[in-house]
Amino acid sequence: MEQVGDRDLLEIEALRFGWPGSASQCIAIDRLSIAPGDTLFLHGPSGSGKSTLLSLMAGVLAGDEGHVRLLGQDWKALGDAARDRHRVDHVGYIFQQFNLLPYLSVIDNVLLPCGFSKLRKLRAASSGDASSAAASLLDRMGIGAALLRQPAMRLSVGQQQRVAAARALIGRPELVIADEPTSALDHELRDAFLDVLLEACGEHRSALVFVSHDRQLAGRFQRQLSLAEINVSASPSAPPAPPAPGEPGERAPHRAAAA
Ligand SMILES: Nc1ncnc2c1ncn2[C@@H]1O[C@H](COP(=O)(O)OP(=O)(O)OP(=O)(O)O)[C@@H](O)[C@H]1O
Ligand SMILES: [Mg+2]
Repeated sequence: MEQVGDRDLLEIEALRFGWPGSASQCIAIDRLSIAPGDTLFLHGPSGSGKSTLLSLMAGVLAGDEGHVRLLGQDWKALGDAARDRHRVDHVGYIFQQFNLLPYLSVIDNVLLPCGFSKLRKLRAASSGDASSAAASLLDRMGIGAALLRQPAMRLSVGQQQRVAAARALIGRPELVIADEPTSALDHELRDAFLDVLLEACGEHRSALVFVSHDRQLAGRFQRQLSLAEINVSASPSAPPAPPAPGEPGERAPHRAAAA
């Protein structure tokens, strides 16, 4: 069983989450920890809750029960503004749909986290200025100088995916979350993209949580995790728990399983 230790970057304990209006829980994870610099490949069938779990890790969603702590800070203990600050300071997120601002230039999209986080800006500027760091990350991702001033919407889907990765990496966040970031890339670009992503995370000891259906990539990561293995709500043999006696509609109690 994994132990949650003092030095863990991300700690999940007894986490329960159900989407409003849904009869069943989407996520029920008793324990998961991620250390600084860990690289983790997370896989599972479509609809099994991978993106939901990533949102819980990043404090975008709040669990109904349990704890998710990043750098020892429980997301739940923070108000909205402090939660946004903690996230932009410490998490780089490559969304499944990229979430670039379409009319903003490529380089300004990459610089966005530096506008919201002094810490990310300071780190990005540690060897020059933030704009040079952004251009350099984009260059490593194969997005050359000619594209920097183009609005993001003029780029191909695969190019936008790489801009989203550069935006997640700028300012060296401790946790980089990547939700199927290679889905629009051909094999050659995919391998080059993963080389840069792993290399950049390794240089800064950022942990990387990477979701993909592409199991060929799994061997490149230190840890491989099937969501079904840790998500006790996904167990097909576990019927929904009945309400506790005298408490109609009470949520299912925690199951005492270990990841
Ligand atoms: N905004 C939402 N509101 C309500 N239910 C949602 C929402 N987003 C996801 N769900 C539900 O949560 C479950 C898990 O969805 P999620 O997007 O986390 O799956 P996934 O494993 O990332 O799938 P995929 O591989 O297709 O991206 C699905 O049943 C989905 O319908
Ligand atoms: Mg998803």
